[in-house]
Amino acid sequence: MADLADRGADVPRPGRTLTVNDEPLTVTSSAGATLLEVLRGAGHTDVKEACGRGECGACTVLVGGRAVMACTQLAALVTGDVTTADGLGEAAADLREAFADYGAFQCGFCTPGQIVRAESILLEYVDISRDEVVRCMSGNICRCTGYRQIVDAVCAVASSRRNDPEGKS
Ligand code: FES
Ligand code: FES
Repeated sequence: MADLADRGADVPRPGRTLTVNDEPLTVTSSAGATLLEVLRGAGHTDVKEACGRGECGACTVLVGGRAVMACTQLAALVTGDVTTADGLGEAAADLREAFADYGAFQCGFCTPGQIVRAESILLEYVDISRDEVVRCMSGNICRCTGYRQIVDAVCAVASSRRNDPEGKS
């Protein structure tokens, strides 16, 4: 029977290197540090901290292409490349423009997490209905906008990407 050391042999330890926005980031914090703490400690302040317990979505990032709340992940156990809102770059330019055009932010605190969440669902679902957008975005809290504008913006980008998948028009 495998002992504890054997069972933990493939668990990543602090001191290893993550890839964040295509750049290496060595995790030197304690084993209990969250991905949110590590990212913000390294200057990725586009990843916002609010509830700190997986309830608001402000800290949403992509890990291996899937949206996760960084405050709920131990940095030492993260296994995929990490992308923050800043790291989305030109891929999410249409979302940023739509958020501005539709008035989908006011204070802007929740916006990086909203953009990352929106990008993740648009990558996953080519044909997404408004109801599905509402459901998929529901974990990201906004205290300012009332949500309709956020859903409008995401639906507009969904439609535009569907009609012009290469983004050439
Ligand atoms: S700060 Fe992570 S979900 Fe609220
Ligand atoms: S724009 Fe202020 S919390 Fe969303």
